[in-house]
Amino acid sequence: MAKIAIIGTGYVGLASAVGFAHLGHDVVGIDIDKSKVEKLTSGKSPIFEKDVEIYLAQSLAKNKIIFSSDYSDMKDCDFVFMCLPTPQNDDGSADINYILDSAKTLTNQLKENATLVIKSTVPVNTWKKVTEILNRTDVSIISNPEFLREGTALEDFFNPDRIVVGGISEEKAHLVADLYKSKDAVIVFTDNTSAEIIKYASNSFLAIKLSFVNEIAAYAESTDANALEVLNAMGLDKRIGKDFLKPGPGWGGMCFPKDVSALKESAREKNVPIPLLDAALESNLKAHARIVSKVKKALGGSLKDKNISVWGLAFKANTDDIRFSPAISVIELLISEGAQIKAFDPVVKQVKELAIEVKSEIIQSVENADAIVVLTEWQEFKLVEPSLIDKLVKQKIVVDARNLLDKEKWINSGFMFIGNGYN
Ligand SMILES: NC(=O)c1ccc[n+]([C@@H]2O[C@H](COP(=O)([O-])OP(=O)(O)OC[C@H]3O[C@@H](n4cnc5c(N)ncnc54)[C@H](O)[C@@H]3O)[C@@H](O)[C@H]2O)c1
Repeated sequence: MAKIAIIGTGYVGLASAVGFAHLGHDVVGIDIDKSKVEKLTSGKSPIFEKDVEIYLAQSLAKNKIIFSSDYSDMKDCDFVFMCLPTPQNDDGSADINYILDSAKTLTNQLKENATLVIKSTVPVNTWKKVTEILNRTDVSIISNPEFLREGTALEDFFNPDRIVVGGISEEKAHLVADLYKSKDAVIVFTDNTSAEIIKYASNSFLAIKLSFVNEIAAYAESTDANALEVLNAMGLDKRIGKDFLKPGPGWGGMCFPKDVSALKESAREKNVPIPLLDAALESNLKAHARIVSKVKKALGGSLKDKNISVWGLAFKANTDDIRFSPAISVIELLISEGAQIKAFDPVVKQVKELAIEVKSEIIQSVENADAIVVLTEWQEFKLVEPSLIDKLVKQKIVVDARNLLDKEKWINSGFMFIGNGYN
């Protein structure tokens, strides 16, 4: 079993830390946020993520994991994984200062012959900058981008489609791949720079796919077609694949928007612009706006002083993450048109940046509503009986941006039901 340090115990770092500990490794989770370290040490997860608290408790009980804010606590670790944020700069490029600053600290802390693994999503040649800062010929740098999805982080950690390991040292690359003890994943051994690009290219491709899906949904709505049937049939073509073919209120989250922008900026710097990325970003703004137009149209052309009950704030179901959530973007547009928002989300209980009421019960969000708008695909929303809320709302209108609810049931209760991608 290996001694592993995880630097940064956020969504990726925490899942990786408890995942590796569960596989039997000895893990030290390092985070500069002392309150997070305290919480984790007491067995509480700072994030909402399926099974993380269960695995955390098991690993703590077996003394397989500790958390600290002190980098010197990872001094005897052979493998050090950087799971640090790489947020978006104002110009769209990735801010890699968390990585570079941490590398400065790590220079004097890394054990002799340690392997430093960059798991964060980083622009090309970040590994070279880290190598320069470290200035340690004994330390190997491995680029091992993460592909897990929030909401299914541990499942993805244990059952990845592929594990990408880029590095100069073949021996160290194999050792890193072995840490995952994965029986089924394809292991892709490559160079550092290719590994860095694989992550950006993958996320950008998915974002482009989703933008296209939303445009087909918009187009289908302008005809007699049903985009859901169109997309379903498209997905039966193996070259296209059935995943990521559902219309929605636009894509979001901490990864897609910033990764598309970062790739766009990196490519522009190299004088190889990728206009598809500009198109995907622009299309995504239209996807948010299209949902607002649907609500507006249903309400007779104006949102001024209209009460909107928003169901869902997280950028997707099964996470508490609202970073770059399309729900938030749609809400901002609704507010800018004069609407008042009462929202409900099963796990997100406040949004500091927005002047909205976040209700603790879904039923409270619908009181006096002119329209209900479904923005996150939480499965529990399906359980709401329209017949139980039809007396509470002011107008019986539902705009289901996720095509989640049972349309017939709502129509049978007298609601005007507006889906996404068909009329
Ligand atoms: N969130 C995802 O679904 C996901 C999936 C794949 C890849 N990624 C990539 O992984 C990286 C991490 O993303 P995340 O969502 O886990 O970020 P996050 O913001 O949830 O977590 C980052 C953690 O790093 C800590 N931190 C910041 N500076 C530090 C320092 N100097 N030393 C120690 N800890 C420090 C923060 O306190 C925080 O807990 C990013 O590059 C992201 O693009 C994210």
